[in-house]
Amino acid sequence: MPKVSSSILCANFAILKDEIKRIENTDMIHIDVMDGVFVPNLTFGQKIISPVKGILMELNLKILLDVHLMIINPHNHIKSFYEAGADIITFHYEAYRNIEKCIDIIKDIKNFGIKAGIAINPETYLPEYEIVRLLREGNPDILLIMGVHPGFSGQKFIPNVFDKIKKTRKIVDRINRSNLRKNSDIKIAVDGGIKMNNAAEIVKNGADILTAGSEVFECNSCKIIEEFKKLK
Ligand code: DX5
Ligand code: ZN
Repeated sequence: MPKVSSSILCANFAILKDEIKRIENTDMIHIDVMDGVFVPNLTFGQKIISPVKGILMELNLKILLDVHLMIINPHNHIKSFYEAGADIITFHYEAYRNIEKCIDIIKDIKNFGIKAGIAINPETYLPEYEIVRLLREGNPDILLIMGVHPGFSGQKFIPNVFDKIKKTRKIVDRINRSNLRKNSDIKIAVDGGIKMNNAAEIVKNGADILTAGSEVFECNSCKIIEEFKKLK
């Protein structure tokens, strides 16, 4: 059963509290941070986190804040997002294209006592030995596979990504088995273009976390989240 992270980029910010009530059964709230440089679009920064946290407290909801950094130099902003209240910080491999640097950042995020994720764009294909190194040495909590080119919600899922999820699942399973003693379990998240009509296949190929925006907010949110969670 997958977990669901609902992308708040698709919410109506004028009625944020009502929008959060609509997704009260989500496991995570996904916060897409875009800088207009790493991706063509601009969204929000650290300041969005405290109002969202405040609403969650008021509504007595225990939902994790899942920050997805689509920015250049993400390393410079880890501390401020941690201080703002992020529970998970995911940054892009493409921000550096350097495995050692990515391993360092994963470790820095985890040293704050929160979860670390590393995201990979649809057109990025790392050789298996590099993925293995990244996962073994960095030991991130989440490997996020983009289903669309980052920058906008509402895009169509790129079909090649199904196969990428499947191949990555095999690598991650191998590493998770050998990590048993470390008591760590790397999860695969898939972000972008997830709809009710492709979610089952995405889960079957190996996703542990479904990150979705438009499908959740444009329909009966709680019901969609519930349906996603039932998939096997
Ligand atoms: C894309 C973002 C996604 C997006 C998901 O750059 O990272 O999280 O908001 O929205 P949908 O589900 O509409 O593709
Ligand atoms: Zn995202």
